[in-house]
Amino acid sequence: MTYTLPELPYDFNALEPVISAKIMELHYTKHHQTYVKNLNDALEKYKEAESKQDIAAMIGHQQAIKFNGGGHVNHSIFWTNLAPQSKGGGGKPSGELLEQIKKDFTSLDEFIEKFTTRTVGIQGSGWGWLGYCKGNKRLVIMTCANQDPLSIIGHVPLLGIDVWEHAYYLQYLNVRADYVKNIWNIVNWKNVEERFANAKK
Ligand SMILES: [Fe+2]
Repeated sequence: MTYTLPELPYDFNALEPVISAKIMELHYTKHHQTYVKNLNDALEKYKEAESKQDIAAMIGHQQAIKFNGGGHVNHSIFWTNLAPQSKGGGGKPSGELLEQIKKDFTSLDEFIEKFTTRTVGIQGSGWGWLGYCKGNKRLVIMTCANQDPLSIIGHVPLLGIDVWEHAYYLQYLNVRADYVKNIWNIVNWKNVEERFANAKK
């Protein structure tokens, strides 16, 4: 099986002014596409090594699978976590997700403030996540370095914010805080609510 770039659910310019069309185009057609290509290449090499029972070579390909596979998984979630305001982006979560946010973080405002601070503070490249911890039945705010997917620390990803420079630098330059602050205006809470409902099953 080879992996393919998932369809972007809106046009490149649909998230303006929060994220420029140029960033979206490059992010999707260059960055995400490259993760997909490199993931398929690494899996191919892994299979070849496996067919020769070359365990050392198999181990050698695992880092590329983790990095590029994580990049593919994370970006596939990210695109659906966002939506233009005309299609439900921004606003507030509702229902069970809102109740759980209040339970675990006191209020929506407190949650957004905590999430923003943690995510802006990531050293180097990485992702800020709202995840669901199935063991403790609660929401968690986590950060992951590079393209590590949230699932490797045992949580279900609900909402991820990409803070690699490729996600904002063309528009926000070095001011990552403004990018993260603005992105709340295009969060697709319906998508996050669906992910939360599925995570609890
Ligand atoms: Fe990215």
